[in-house]
Amino acid sequence: MSEDLERRKFLSRLWKGGIAVMAGAAAWTSWDFLQPVAGQAGGPVTTVAPDVIPTDSVLEVDPMRGYLTEVNGEVVPLYWKCPHLGCKVPWCESSGQFECPCHGSVFNRIGEYRRGPAPRGMDKYEFEIIDGVVVPDTSKIIRGAPAGTPETIDEPPKGP
Ligand code: FES
Repeated sequence: MSEDLERRKFLSRLWKGGIAVMAGAAAWTSWDFLQPVAGQAGGPVTTVAPDVIPTDSVLEVDPMRGYLTEVNGEVVPLYWKCPHLGCKVPWCESSGQFECPCHGSVFNRIGEYRRGPAPRGMDKYEFEIIDGVVVPDTSKIIRGAPAGTPETIDEPPKGP
């Protein structure tokens, strides 16, 4: 009888502990989801001159938490946070596209949505050219276009 009672107490505590863990996870997810989209650096970041920005690849710039690339003479400053659940999206040199390691979303060189669970393309920063240098403002985010929006560049994957 006492053993049965102990087991019941143990199972009750286990159940309550599981509920507490789930409540904590839900609270954390909600808090994270409600955070602003803006980069955490939160302001203008001095980077490089436009003429060193690649036109067939990307330049990773840690202080702006993103990448610079150029298409048709236009600088494109991308925020590296995946619009799905926020993982850092790395550039894949062999495929010539961004590939999120978390759930497989894929974006082209200028961050446009290709496939995967992300709801939109990668976000971009507003920027200025100041004294010949690209200065993205990481507090000013331009949301990526919704998934399914046609790509505006013709750059199919280069490989695996
Ligand atoms: Fe990038 Fe889920 S966080 S696909």
